[in-house]
Amino acid sequence: MKIIIFGPQGSGKGTQAELIARHHGWSYISTGDIFRYHLKNQTALGKKVDKYVSSGLLAPDELTNEIVKDRIFQPDCVSGFVLDGYPRNLAQLEFLNKIAKIDFALAIELSDEEAIKRLADRWACKCGLSYHLLHNPPKEPGICDKCGLPLFRRDDDKPEAIKKRLEIFHQETEPLFAVYNKSGIWHQVNGDQPINEVYRQIDDAIHHHLG
Ligand code: AP5
Ligand code: MG
Repeated sequence: MKIIIFGPQGSGKGTQAELIARHHGWSYISTGDIFRYHLKNQTALGKKVDKYVSSGLLAPDELTNEIVKDRIFQPDCVSGFVLDGYPRNLAQLEFLNKIAKIDFALAIELSDEEAIKRLADRWACKCGLSYHLLHNPPKEPGICDKCGLPLFRRDDDKPEAIKKRLEIFHQETEPLFAVYNKSGIWHQVNGDQPINEVYRQIDDAIHHHLG
């Protein structure tokens, strides 16, 4: 099953995508995590996208499209994947349509006010997991439950970058909802509920869709 997951910054895309993928044995792909890996390791790609990602702007489509194309054709994606953070604009959607047939598209709804509050208390791990001091704390403070690495604050979780990211979401990504809504593979879930409840509703929708 090939799933894409949409939602404003802080809505819980990464949190839910990781749970879905782990539960079903599908691969979890986050374009944001891929960019952060390249930034941290100062690869050629990392150097090219630094100024965009750190300030909350979208990386150039040509680079992003190539990354996704490389990733979704890896052997671990054959049984299925959950794609978090792509496509984010019409050009990316058109590219994705040429290389993959998506089975299910999902959006997590959350107000900007709530999203901003959540990001203020998010701690991230480089393995892709996100924690929240109140709603999803790690077992040991500052350490990832899954891989034992120290947690960090993301560079783009500063107020100016959050504002920019939300603006881009509303201007460029939200218009894609109408396209998927017409396709019969679309589902929206209220993200302003506890993590387990959001997950339960998403999983029900996936099972319903699978028939
Ligand atoms: P990306 O990493 O995708 O960031 P984002 O879209 O800004 O989304 P976030 O990761 O901030 O939020 P999330 O929805 O995953 O929330 P999370 O699960 O962590 O992209 C980063 C950057 O990379 C982009 O700005 C851009 O520069 C670049 N990029 C990426 N894709 C690109 C593309 N396609 N094209 C061009 N550039 C691209 O949850 C947030 C917090 O809330 C956590 O603390 C979590 O524990 C908590 N939480 C989650 N769910 C709940 C809940 N139900 N109740 C309470 N707390 C919750
Ligand atoms: Mg994320």
